[in-house]
Amino acid sequence: MQRRTLVTCGLPYANGPAHIGHLRTYIPADLFVRSLRKQGKDTTFVCGSDAHGTPIVINAEELGVTPAELVQKYHDHFDETFKSLNIIFDKFGNTESDTNHNRTTEIVNTLIAKGYVFSQSIELAYCPTCDRFLPDRYVEGVCPDCGAVARGDECDQGCGKHLEPGEILEPLCKICKSKAEYRVQEHFFFKLSEFKGFLSDYLDKLGGTSNARNYAKGWVEGELHDWCITRNLEWGVRFPGHENLVVYVWVDAPIGYISFTEEWADEHGADWKKYWMNPGGDTDIIHFIGGDIIYHHCIFWPALLKGAGYTLPRAVVASGMVKIGDKTFSKSRGYVVWVNDDYLDKGFHPDLLRYYLASYTSHTKELNFSWKVFQEKVNNELVGTLGNFVYRTLLFAHKNFGTVPDGDIDSEVVEKIGAAKDAVTLAFNEYEFKRGIDAAMNLAAFGNVYFQSNEPWQLIKTDAPGAGKVVRNCIQIVKALAVLFEPVMPVTASAAWAQVGMGAGLDGASYDEATVAVEVGQPIPKPAMLFAKIEDTTIQEMEEILEKRVREATKKKHVTFEEFSELDIRIGTIVSAEPIKKSKKLLKLLVDLGENRDRQIVAGIAETHNPDDLVGRQVVVLANMQPAKLFGVESRGMILAGGSDSGGAILLVPEREVPAGTSVA
Ligand code: 2FM
Ligand code: ZN
Repeated sequence: MQRRTLVTCGLPYANGPAHIGHLRTYIPADLFVRSLRKQGKDTTFVCGSDAHGTPIVINAEELGVTPAELVQKYHDHFDETFKSLNIIFDKFGNTESDTNHNRTTEIVNTLIAKGYVFSQSIELAYCPTCDRFLPDRYVEGVCPDCGAVARGDECDQGCGKHLEPGEILEPLCKICKSKAEYRVQEHFFFKLSEFKGFLSDYLDKLGGTSNARNYAKGWVEGELHDWCITRNLEWGVRFPGHENLVVYVWVDAPIGYISFTEEWADEHGADWKKYWMNPGGDTDIIHFIGGDIIYHHCIFWPALLKGAGYTLPRAVVASGMVKIGDKTFSKSRGYVVWVNDDYLDKGFHPDLLRYYLASYTSHTKELNFSWKVFQEKVNNELVGTLGNFVYRTLLFAHKNFGTVPDGDIDSEVVEKIGAAKDAVTLAFNEYEFKRGIDAAMNLAAFGNVYFQSNEPWQLIKTDAPGAGKVVRNCIQIVKALAVLFEPVMPVTASAAWAQVGMGAGLDGASYDEATVAVEVGQPIPKPAMLFAKIEDTTIQEMEEILEKRVREATKKKHVTFEEFSELDIRIGTIVSAEPIKKSKKLLKLLVDLGENRDRQIVAGIAETHNPDDLVGRQVVVLANMQPAKLFGVESRGMILAGGSDSGGAILLVPEREVPAGTSVA
């Protein structure tokens, strides 16, 4: 019996527009699906919107709309954007659907019935002003591990650790900014720790890219903590039997993969259980995800599936992260390229972006988006090599013959096409998209050399059948290129297919069509160029848009006198100074600020200042700095210093000695 494959893509949060970073997962996944189908494999491709989680609720609140309205807007946006890029899912669902609510409830109930869920009273951040518990991103505070400012679910600016509810220190309400307190509440936990042995064996066999497998193996070797799977929210899938709790978004989001398969199966008379409840094992489930959500897909998710008795994924394919012009991708700092505003709406062809993103570097590596490199790849590879070969072949054929001329196909050409076909298929099956595309492009380069060295423009004067044979061979190569490039650039490949007189229907053609001889006598219409050069001025314009965005995002804000007056800046005298264990940069100081007690302040001056030399010196201190913990040491104030990272800190000092606590204004 033929195996069937289900390919899924990580679900985009329905919380904002699509950017280039998103496409690093979806374009290669679509390419992969098209390539499987070209090998005659029964393949289904599902994705959908991730509708839940606190960022969506907070964003909706700020915009004055309901979460459902916000989700619908961005669900439609992603659905349309993917279609515009010819990323064609069999089902693009939404985790807010009834199917997903029902499937999540069923799975959670099964886990409860099997004893994998337990309840525990834990201390959670609670805002007395807003009168509510503060799940995940509703709370900000200090990371218990590294002391950096963190949000409730993740130390996003420091060590990157996932934070469980109740872990964050010094919690502040994100909505009203007031100090939160800890209150005890009952929550529910999944016994992840019981799955350590299972996960360790499972990961040994997991297919996909090695980055996913290796990261996950490292985590399993450490301690696996039981996982809090409930949150105090209105928006989400209700936790069975508890009106005030929903399940954590990372439970119902991957369950979306199952419910979207159910919805697709319902619409197409198929049986979803063959995909997800299939102990016979004739289905391969392959997840395409971003490299930032490996933990969720290789640890939480297989443990949930195992616990609830569902089919386990066979492979996880994790893409490298995207940078913009060498800078870490960041919407707030302006380092972002929007798919619609910056690309599609500017009239760039979707195939160019598909080609660039899939062939720039290997799938697991970081991708540094640059308009310049985009231009170079389009102009040199697509226009210069592929487009040039197809156009010169077909123009010559059209002008001199009008149809496919007679002549044997050379064994060298048959061999080259066969080898390219094998190389492309194998590379794509191994998730090596760049390697596959390079192999296809090498065939186009070979075509150019073949045309050039056989000089059909000379032959036609003396030996028309000889010229005809060269042309037929070149047309065969064009046909093969159309087949091999279809997964990468479906629109342009179809145009090339039509130009060699094959009509429509390239997406249904198998890889084997590449070596099926083009029929002699088939009409060759006047060709149009497949690609056009991108001008320097266009790229400059795009670079300027990006630069302007960064400038505006980082523009210094003016401060009013009232705002400045809120700063409590004082002269202090250093009373003691000592190093902080395990920190090269920090010193712990006690500073006399004219108060009853000396202030403890942590300062990053250990590399430039000797503790003993500091005692007795006067410094300038921001006394009402938000308290923080650094390396576990509390700091209540900030020593002001000039200088840069490279030059080291230069302390600001008063012109002459003044009483400790003298204010600066
Ligand atoms: O990280 C994200 O963008 C999530 N919305 C991905 C969810 S993937 C899946 F598990 F549903
Ligand atoms: Zn509040």
